Amino acid sequence: MYVCLCHNVTDSDIRRLVQTEGVCTMRELSRQLGVATQCGRCGQCAKEILREAVDAQRREAACPGLMAAA
Ligand code: FES
Repeated sequence: MYVCLCHNVTDSDIRRLVQTEGVCTMRELSRQLGVATQCGRCGQCAKEILREAVDAQRREAACPGLMAAA
């Protein structure tokens, strides 16, 4: 699903960045992908997806294999 139309960013792009780069703040996300830096309409949605992805990453770190079993 597209989150940021101005910069062609999808929810998968955000999740991948959290997993591979350890991005965990909107500032970092905006710097790397440009979300919420133009019209700003994507900010709330991007923030929610970022929060979900970071939470999932932390659950996985706390209990490896949990996400694979789900
Ligand atoms: Fe993301 Fe416009 S939709 S900055």
